[in-house]
Formats: sequence, C-alpha cells, structure tokens
Amino acid sequence: MPDDKVNMRNTGQPAHFIDILSTDAGRLKHLLSLAQRLKAAHLAHQRESTAAGKTLAMIFEKPSLRTRVSFDVAMTQLGGSAIYISPNEIGLGSRESVPDVARVLSGMCDAIMARTFSHQTIIDLALHAAIPIINGLSDHSHPCQAMADLLTIQEAFGSLEGRTLAYIGDGNNVARSLLEACAVFKMRFAIATPPAYRLPEADFRAVQAAFPIECLVTDDPRVAVAKADAIYTDTWVSMGQEAEKAQRLPVFRPYQINTELLSRAPKHAIVLHCLPAYRGVEITDEVIDGPQSRVFEEAHNRLHFQKALLANLLTGA
Ligand code: CP
Ligand code: NVA
Repeated sequence: MPDDKVNMRNTGQPAHFIDILSTDAGRLKHLLSLAQRLKAAHLAHQRESTAAGKTLAMIFEKPSLRTRVSFDVAMTQLGGSAIYISPNEIGLGSRESVPDVARVLSGMCDAIMARTFSHQTIIDLALHAAIPIINGLSDHSHPCQAMADLLTIQEAFGSLEGRTLAYIGDGNNVARSLLEACAVFKMRFAIATPPAYRLPEADFRAVQAAFPIECLVTDDPRVAVAKADAIYTDTWVSMGQEAEKAQRLPVFRPYQINTELLSRAPKHAIVLHCLPAYRGVEITDEVIDGPQSRVFEEAHNRLHFQKALLANLLTGA
C-alpha cells in the first residue's frame, strides 16, 4: 500500500481517527494487521521504542478505565509518554475554547486523544489542530472500540469477511461504530433494539452508500442472534444519559444477554461487551464469565489496537 494512503500525510493535513466511515478503508485494514503484528511482538516480549520523545495529550470529559489505561500504556510501550487531562482541569469550551485548546496542544504535543460528550467537539479539535486527533468515544461513535472488537473476532475465527455480528441493546455510539466497521470488513450486521432506540435510518443509508452490507434490523433479540458468530451488547444507559435510567431499564429488559438467549445462537458464537458491564442488567454473570465470553480478551485488545493507531499516526508505521 502506498505510504500516502496509509498515513494520509501528503495532503498537508494531519491524519485523524474520528470515525470508521471517515477513515480510508485501506488504512483501517492496515491498522488491523499492524495491531495483530504488534500484539504478536508484545507476546514475544519484543518492543520497539519508535515513538521515543513523543507525547499524547488525553482529554477526558467522561470517566474511563480501558481507554485511558490502554492509550497511556501504548505510549509507554512505544517509548513515548501520555498526559491525562481531567474534565475539571481543562474546561473544554468553558475555561477555554475548543479551537484554542487545539492550537495550544498542537505546539506542545504530537497527538490528542479526546473523549467528549458532543461529537462536534472532536470535529472542532480536528479542524483547529495541526496534530492528529483521535476519537476516544463521543456520543456519536467509539471507533477505537470497534477496531479492537474486530481484532477479537478475527482472533476467534481467523477471518472477518462473511461473519455475522449480532448487536443487542441500545442503538448507541458503540452500535454505530460496529455497523460501520462490519460494513468496511464485509461482515453481516444484525441488530435488535427496542423500537424507540434504533440506530437512525441515516446511519444505515450512509453505510450502504459506501460499503453495501447485509443488515438485519429487528426488535427481537432471538431473531438477531440466530445466525450470529459474535453476540455483542453494551450498557443500556450510556455516559451522559444517567437521568434516563429509570425510563430505559424496563424497556430494555427483554434484551438481556443471558443463557436463554445464548441457547438461540449457534454453539460457536462468542460473546463481546465493550465494558464497563452492568452485571445482571444487560448481561448475566453466567454469560460474561462463561465459556463463550471473549470480553476480557476484547478489553486487552484495546491496548494492541491503540498501539497500532499511535504507531501509524506518530511514526508512519
Ligand atoms: N470500553 C471503554 O471504552 O471503556 P472505558 O469507558 O473504561 O474507557
Ligand atoms: N455506550 C457507552 C460505552 C462505554 C464504553 C457510553 O457511551 O457510555
């Protein structure tokens, strides 16, 4: 693959990682195989300090375990460093405007990872930064998560094309990034949500226009899992939706991943969850701790994908 495709550096603009659909498909494929290679090297205790002296700024408007730790550890393993900037410290858009934050960090750091409420904040950072911007979750999408999920499915089955991912629960940021990722990697996507919590039609149209994909949209989780290779769920109450909790929980109750639902899926199906999991709510202990669960491998794969992404953005790997 030509370097300009992989790095997108010849355009004079920094490469960003904002959404799956806005990222070149060739680059996504490159990132996935780089993540596999870096994981194999990591397991063989081989490390290269290719990002020595580089710094990642990590801006968080919301809490995090996996995203924060995986980006920080990834920078350490690549020989660089990361700075955690808490919501109170920075006051994005209140203490200081988003464009000014982007301009200041562009002169001190080599990339910015941001976890925000509004997706527009990520876009505004990218519009005003001279360094790469990485979406570490917004209300719209969670592309780093979706790529780590594909890495996990690829490890389980050896390939992605033609595999079916069944997403059960809320049509949220994680669901949207998974839909886009499945389309790019020629997978089938089945989704079961309560009718009022579907992904908008516009998301399916955008995906179909770019990468025609076989989709099954239903409100019946048993229908969605019937041909699944991977069954996926996420919280029913995303960060920022806490006030809707009492209204949401009863609507989502029939969408729990439990042994009864799992018995409707092929025996080889694996179970994924981006975590944090609300055990006994969207998924039972029996399933998340059961033999079909790949949830913790999936969490660990955040590190390996993050490392590939940073190596690509910071060193042209
Ligand atoms: N899955 C995920 O993004 O986890 P955190 O919210 O802990 O970063
Ligand atoms: N949909 C969840 C994902 C958490 C990783 C949220 O946005 O809170």
